[in-house]
Amino acid sequence: MPNRHFAKKPMSSISSESQESAHSLKRTLGAYNLTSLGIGAIIGAGLFSITGLAAANNAGPAVTISFVIAAIGCLFAGLCYAEFSSMIPVAGSAYTYSYATMGRFIAWVIGWDLVLEYAVGAATVSISWSRYLKKFLELFHLHLPDQLTMSPWDSITQADGTVITGIINLPAVVIVVLVSLLLIRGTKESAFVNNLIVAIKVSVVLVFIFLGWGYVNSANYTPYIPENTGTFGAYGWSGILRAAGIIFFAYIGFDAVSTAAQEAKNPQRDMPIGILLSLAICTVLYILFAHVMTGLANYTEFKGQDGIAPVAVAISHTPYGFMQKLIILAILGGYSSVIMVMLLGQSRVFYSMSQDGFLPKVFSEVHPKFRTPWKSNGVFCLFVSLFAAFIPARVVGEMTSIGTLFAFVLVCIGILVLRKSHPELPRPFKTPLVPLVPILGILSCLLMMVSLPGDTWIRLFVWMTIGLIIYYFYSRHHAKH
Ligand code: ALA
Repeated sequence: MPNRHFAKKPMSSISSESQESAHSLKRTLGAYNLTSLGIGAIIGAGLFSITGLAAANNAGPAVTISFVIAAIGCLFAGLCYAEFSSMIPVAGSAYTYSYATMGRFIAWVIGWDLVLEYAVGAATVSISWSRYLKKFLELFHLHLPDQLTMSPWDSITQADGTVITGIINLPAVVIVVLVSLLLIRGTKESAFVNNLIVAIKVSVVLVFIFLGWGYVNSANYTPYIPENTGTFGAYGWSGILRAAGIIFFAYIGFDAVSTAAQEAKNPQRDMPIGILLSLAICTVLYILFAHVMTGLANYTEFKGQDGIAPVAVAISHTPYGFMQKLIILAILGGYSSVIMVMLLGQSRVFYSMSQDGFLPKVFSEVHPKFRTPWKSNGVFCLFVSLFAAFIPARVVGEMTSIGTLFAFVLVCIGILVLRKSHPELPRPFKTPLVPLVPILGILSCLLMMVSLPGDTWIRLFVWMTIGLIIYYFYSRHHAKH
């Protein structure tokens, strides 16, 4: 049936899929777990690594305003996700919403695109996790061999001039395997571990804000918006905008809550809470963190550094050196939960695509005892491990951002379409001010996409082309609707 690219998945078949059975995913998550899942996916590298860099290179102390702008963009998309996830509470998230509203072809595009956000995102974060594990162990004089913590494409030059080239990034593989095993064991168990990690990382962020607040030097806020240097994106208002595009990465993750819709006990009520509350909590924490960080040290002190070095500079303006260790600990825990929720999201999207016939059955087989899509978890464990072991971590962060923004745009369009095509359907949560909110969501996400570098667009194009080949030769012939 080659001409059925716009065939839509009937809402009736979606609602029958959302019913729980012995062979389906198990409904175990309440509002608290869902919110915690969101925070687990959100707080990570974006906050700890990127804030200082965006302040140093783009926005100065006004990076706080960038956090507000990015949060507003996410809020528009978040409100649209909330409506969809309460009315279409199945595992596929943006993929299923598109299938119901825009048809088979767009659904495939979005499902394939989400691999960038979730699987590639998880691999990227596991590579950074490995770097911080090494750093953390070194605080206790334990040294991991460099060859075993880098991909074969990475090398470092030692003080005596010898160059060490990596063989495999082993710690990155270890964390991916551990997290995958936990996910196979059960969603409830995974959510429990996630809750613990979230408690640790939120506490560390709060400790930083409260202890740091007393040492803020208000002189560091002048000028609050450093004058533009003449180049777009280098300070001034254009710098604030560019920084918003960069720190958007820090907010990625709240949408992953929607992939757990089929495991929520009361999705109609709890999905909107999980999505919007996790976004709201993180927004407040981020703004306060950025405000304290740029108040402790002058933004010019963050220049020419990478990773968590800017946070270390900020801490050095307080008498609390121990916070350094706490922050690395929060990063290690924080990154683990980001990887976990990303891998959870990935397997759930492929679960739905496989149920619809787009992908082989193996992706939707549920373990008889654990009730998790264990084979899918296994396949992604392998794929993401290979990626993490042998590919260097450059630029993949931007791939994750562009993939996510693209998904957000389609979700906002989907709300507009569904309001027209199915106005009668019950909507436990309604996006306010339609069409204004979805339109603003589309515009703000497109603006952030445009602010990303050109080579990211080329990679997106290459990835989508691979997806189209699979669609053409396999998926469209096997699609059930
Ligand atoms: N928001 C996640 C992070 O910052 C992806 O690590």
